Amino acid sequence: MNIPLLLQLRDAGGQFLGIDYLGMDRDRLGVEVAELEAFGVALEWHPYLGIAYRGHAERLCPDLIEWSLGTQHVGRRVAVWNRVASTNDLAARAAGSLANDGLVILAEEQTAGRGRRGRAWSAPAQSSVLMSVLLFPPAWLADPGWLTALGAVATAEVVEAWTGQPARIKWPNDVRVEGRKVAGILVERGLGAVLGIGLNVNITAADLPADLQESATSLQVLRVEPLDRSEVVRSLIRRIDAHYLNGLNGDDALLNACWRDRLELRGLRVQVQTTSEIIHGCLFDANLRHGLTLKTDQGDARQVPGAEVVSMARAEDAPISI
Ligand code: BTN
Repeated sequence: MNIPLLLQLRDAGGQFLGIDYLGMDRDRLGVEVAELEAFGVALEWHPYLGIAYRGHAERLCPDLIEWSLGTQHVGRRVAVWNRVASTNDLAARAAGSLANDGLVILAEEQTAGRGRRGRAWSAPAQSSVLMSVLLFPPAWLADPGWLTALGAVATAEVVEAWTGQPARIKWPNDVRVEGRKVAGILVERGLGAVLGIGLNVNITAADLPADLQESATSLQVLRVEPLDRSEVVRSLIRRIDAHYLNGLNGDDALLNACWRDRLELRGLRVQVQTTSEIIHGCLFDANLRHGLTLKTDQGDARQVPGAEVVSMARAEDAPISI
């Protein structure tokens, strides 16, 4: 697909561009434009004025995603599938070859999408970003908590960039805007590490399942218009790559700061269920390497390693233990 032509038309902001201006002979242009239209890009022809861009394709466009992506590690290869059981499964299957480090798998639809704790993750076809990144992290980055934070921070940054609204992280893996979940992260370890991201994009409020009306949202709901998911994917791949490269270079202070600053409940009274006990206190600080710091009701500072935290909720919302 002729991506430079697509971008030239798109960047004209709806203005007609003359055939002479586009610098191609009429026949060649006809072929290129027909290909864009066949893919689903909305274009308008005018006999004298030329061609105008009217809207993005509904489908994910691999050529556009890879075009001048400029990443060093993540997205060196990008595969888009129409319908798969789970993109995480496909990425895990590709882990037999180290050459697939940084591979990005995307799907228009999943038939057995997974969330955390055995929950299902479903989204209408062509509505969302359903993406898995295969990584072979060095030992110091292989912690699932670090990789989850990487996915959550990158996704929160993208959500914020596209909606202009602050995106927060609900420990450990939800990205939320105004308390509503817009994305979830699922890291799975096998031969490599698979970073799975489900981001609600082109879903209207009416299309959200009845039981999620209050608790979920999408980029379209937050922006009031559908987005080109290929562009959302590009920004997501770039943010993941940037944070991952920092990690590879031994500097995860930035990721830690971004994660900490976006963490919901910081400064509030929380109930933390660990693998061995329930602790109440104020969530004073959080660090990807050292875990949570709680100021307990007795006034002590308690350090709780992240790996020991089973769940954390605002104390008022926390289920009463009996
Ligand atoms: C959660 O919030 O529980 C995590 C949801 C993760 C969903 C994504 S969608 C792409 C990837 N493939 C899956 O099967 N799951 C993750």
